[in-house]
Amino acid sequence: MKYPSPYLTVVVIGLLFSLASSASHTHDHEHFLQCLQLQNSTSISEVVYTPSNSSYSSILHFSIQNHRFLSKTTPKPLVIVTPLHASHVQATIICSQLHGLQIRTRSGGHDFEGVSYISQLPFVIIDLINYRNIEVDAETRTAWVQAGATIVFRVERTLEQNATILIMKWQNVASKLHEDLAIRLELTTKAKFEALFLGGKDKLIPLMQERFPELGLVKEDCTEMSWIESTVYMVGSSSKSLQVLLQRTPSLPQSYKGKSDFLKHPIPESGLEGIWQLFKENGDKFAFMELFPYGGIMDQIPQSKLPFPHRSGNLCLVGYLDSWDQHGRDEVAQKQIKWITRIYSYMEPFASNSPRAAYLNYRDLDIGVNNIGYTSYEQASLWGLKYFKNNFNRLANVKTKVDPLNFFRYKQSIPSLMKFCSCENRVAEKFRGEEMQDNSYLDEFMEGTHSFYKNKRNKAKSNTQVPEDN
Ligand SMILES: *[C@@H]1O[C@H](CO)[C@@H](O)[C@H](O)[C@H]1NC(C)=O
Ligand SMILES: *[C@@H]1O[C@H](CO)[C@@H](O)[C@H](O)[C@H]1NC(C)=O
Ligand SMILES: *[C@@H]1O[C@H](CO)[C@@H](O)[C@H](O)[C@H]1NC(C)=O
Repeated sequence: MKYPSPYLTVVVIGLLFSLASSASHTHDHEHFLQCLQLQNSTSISEVVYTPSNSSYSSILHFSIQNHRFLSKTTPKPLVIVTPLHASHVQATIICSQLHGLQIRTRSGGHDFEGVSYISQLPFVIIDLINYRNIEVDAETRTAWVQAGATIVFRVERTLEQNATILIMKWQNVASKLHEDLAIRLELTTKAKFEALFLGGKDKLIPLMQERFPELGLVKEDCTEMSWIESTVYMVGSSSKSLQVLLQRTPSLPQSYKGKSDFLKHPIPESGLEGIWQLFKENGDKFAFMELFPYGGIMDQIPQSKLPFPHRSGNLCLVGYLDSWDQHGRDEVAQKQIKWITRIYSYMEPFASNSPRAAYLNYRDLDIGVNNIGYTSYEQASLWGLKYFKNNFNRLANVKTKVDPLNFFRYKQSIPSLMKFCSCENRVAEKFRGEEMQDNSYLDEFMEGTHSFYKNKRNKAKSNTQVPEDN
């Protein structure tokens, strides 16, 4: 094979490195384990789990919150590392790279699509389960808990109780209310208004009478509690004890699917009729649609300030969620996923457009994914612009600087802008096909990737200057 430049050779080698590895390294994760031992990291073996360790399954399953990904066919990691020190993370990254393994980094396992613990290529999970200190810095005021009295209310209204009229009114006022008041709306076959107010009843009731009298809120609907208590109340926990916040296993085992939208204009009354109809047809008690009001501080942060771009101009964030507890029953899962796809497509005319924006934390692989091999910026833009708008291009530029070979990647990771030669697709095809006989290029891959990173390391060592960020 002839490449245009030595540098490109390295890039292509890097790209194909783990494709090659999937075929050649599946059976030798022993070498990966040896590699971990050789790194300078204190007692790493105490935090390394392979399928032969008796607690491998319990560690793996512990943070799989979405039981859609608990099935036998869900790809499993070769190794799970639960680091206690940064050196454990470093060792895992270095060895994964050397042995062509993908890395998945998992925290609470809340990811809707399981991308923090699933890969189609051989992989290792770095599970941050032991990283759970919370440090509150009083001096710089970086944490903000228990800010005095908080009021919470939750009122439900059926269709007969004018739910449609109330939602119309909510859409007009929710993003423009006092900045200490947020009213979340949850739709099923009825409407649930759930609010958090940083202040007392005496201030809230007049405020509601002025801006949203139709809801008919009275003092008796309100409960006064501390902010930290409200977090327990808001998730619908029946417990009054704050101890539930320390409980790490979810109370209900469940499988779920979520999607998201942003609204820039109110859904018209005729549009709401169709939503009621869809909920009636579904008949599943766990399906709901939630609307979080925007406005407030969100309006004051420019779109380009942080990667998260959905700021002013939005009335609310919409989440569509459906969960079911028939673990392992495909027909139930298919039916519920189909329903959520239906309501999402029904909502298209009312949602934001060009692009139809999406919320990253409600990860949704239906809106587009990366290829196993190279993915162009254009292709990744299909979903990238939905999550990040114009910040996507800037994120891709940062990615190209810090990880040009795209070692850290998953189904919806930010792509590197590094250009590849056309031979890339040809070789990728080869990997997808059966013919893996000719492995001569593998050595070349290894060598190329190693020298690329070695050069980078040496350069970093000899360069004491901090690189300029342009
Ligand atoms: C090895 O790790 C220890 C503690 O993590 C650190 O102090 C030491 O500098 C490291 N040595 C090398 C050669 O990296
Ligand atoms: C897993 O098993 C290996 C081999 O027996 C052992 O060295 C390692 O310490 C075990 N891991 C944990 C976390 O106990
Ligand atoms: C519903 O709205 C109508 C008119 O807007 C009003 O007369 C009626 O009392 C309301 N019903 C309830 C249950 O609030």
